[in-house]
Amino acid sequence: MKEEVKKVEQEALNALKEVSDLAGIRALKSRFLGRNGILTGLLRKISRLPPEERPETGRLANEVKKRLEQAFGKALQAFEAGREETPADVLDVTLPGRPLAMGRVHPITQVSHTICQIFQRLGFEIVEGPDVELDYYNFEALNIPRDHPARDMQDTFYISENTVLRTHTSPIQVRVMESQPPPVRIIAPGKAYRVDSDVSHTPMFHQVEGLMVQENISFGDLKGILTTFVHQIFDEETSLRFRPSFFPFTEPSAEVDILCVICRGKGCRVCSHTGWLEVLGAGMVHPAVFEMIGYDTDRYTGFAFGMGIERIAMLKYGIEDIRKFYENDLRFLEQF
Ligand code: FA5
Ligand code: MG
Repeated sequence: MKEEVKKVEQEALNALKEVSDLAGIRALKSRFLGRNGILTGLLRKISRLPPEERPETGRLANEVKKRLEQAFGKALQAFEAGREETPADVLDVTLPGRPLAMGRVHPITQVSHTICQIFQRLGFEIVEGPDVELDYYNFEALNIPRDHPARDMQDTFYISENTVLRTHTSPIQVRVMESQPPPVRIIAPGKAYRVDSDVSHTPMFHQVEGLMVQENISFGDLKGILTTFVHQIFDEETSLRFRPSFFPFTEPSAEVDILCVICRGKGCRVCSHTGWLEVLGAGMVHPAVFEMIGYDTDRYTGFAFGMGIERIAMLKYGIEDIRKFYENDLRFLEQF
């Protein structure tokens, strides 16, 4: 039996030297080592040998099996290595293409663009101002002196005693008026910051400021412009109301509510069952602001407004939690 095993090994190795193609090597391997292979057959017979012969014959047969497996393995490997790769091996042209991961414009930026476009068509020019702002522009020049109780309306991030992260886009009004005489007709989009966080407030949010100053500007102009805007950003069916309010830099002041775009005034969760939603603050520029800048208060009047972009985006898309905009969940962002 031992002789037979050795003979089979020699036979297999000799045969392996003769073949030169893949199919040949595979066939040989199966002839000797396959389930019904020659060596496999011998291994099965070992159990029928006399007990004293079994251990040594078994060991030898197993060694031979291992050596042959190695030899076949090597032959197959050499064959693979030596073979030249054809394009079809590396590239399956019938596979579908890989989709490109495309970036998109953030929904808040999209809404900001839309708002700006509407006002540009109405003749407003876009301007910008710094996020890190002097206390003077954010407060003082807007008729909010130090220790004025109105400072409590906005929880401010202070950078230093005289610099803040702007709490609204209104300081841009002052910067623009300082730099040019009337007429002024600008719109200023940008970030604003407040110590504030819940379902409708984030520490960083966006506003669009509007300012129009020239002779004979009245509250009627403010109503006309804002009504046109609301009808364009939502639709013609959307009613709005001007509710008296207070801002130190406008007089009279108003907040504008729109009829809830979700329930159309019937009352729902989004509008806290009032049927109305606040979208912006506005008013006629306070003469004290004009005086600080040096505009002639006998000759010029103007209006200003400031709206929260997130608020508009939430209403436009029916989003109930403002924080979704800033969680960077692609499943959310990819819908826009
Ligand atoms: C102002 O900021 C005034 N500067 C608006 C203004 C401009 C009035 C010009 C008159 C003339 P208010 O604090 O109400 O007002 O904020 C305006 C809008 O910003 C709010 O209606 C709301 O939509 C949005 N807003 C305020 N705080 C946050 C916040 N933490 N997160 C998201 N949106 C906010
Ligand atoms: Mg408000």
